[in-house]
Amino acid sequence: MHGVNLDALDRRPAEHYGGLTFSRLEYRIEEFARGLRLEARFFQSNHEGEFVEELHRAPDYADGLLLNPGAWTHYAWAIRDALEISGLPAVEVHLSDVKHREPFRAVSVLEDVCVASVTGQGVEGYRVALEHLKGALS
Ligand code: DQA
Repeated sequence: MHGVNLDALDRRPAEHYGGLTFSRLEYRIEEFARGLRLEARFFQSNHEGEFVEELHRAPDYADGLLLNPGAWTHYAWAIRDALEISGLPAVEVHLSDVKHREPFRAVSVLEDVCVASVTGQGVEGYRVALEHLKGALS
C-alpha cells in the first residue's frame, strides 16, 4: 500500500528516491513478490480517509501488508489505528533513510503495529520487507 505522494515518485528528489517512476516501482515489487512466491495486490491514495478504508477492507483479501504511507508515517495516528484494526501482519518500508534525514522523518507512528521496518535501501528494501512479511506469515 502506497501512501501520499508516492504516485509522483519520479518528480521527487532523486538523491532520496532514486528517480524511479511509480509504475517501475510496482513492477519491481511484483517481481520480488513472484520470486518469493507471494501474490501482490497494489493500492495507492493521496487521501488519508481512502487509505484508512482500504485498511479496513484489507482482511477480506490479504494475508499481510507492506506499507509505505509516505509522510503519513510521521503523524497519521488514524492510519496507525486502522492498521491495528486490520489485525494483519504488516511491514513498513521507506525508500529513503528516514532515520537520518529531517528530524520529523525519524518518527514513525506505525512502528509499534508493524512486525518490521525497512528504511534507506531504495527499491531493494521492498524485497527485504517482503522477506520479513513472508517470515511473519509462516
Ligand atoms: C518516504 C519517506 C517519507 O518521509 C516521505 O514523506 C515520503 C517517502 C520514503 O519512502 O522514503 O513520501 O516514505
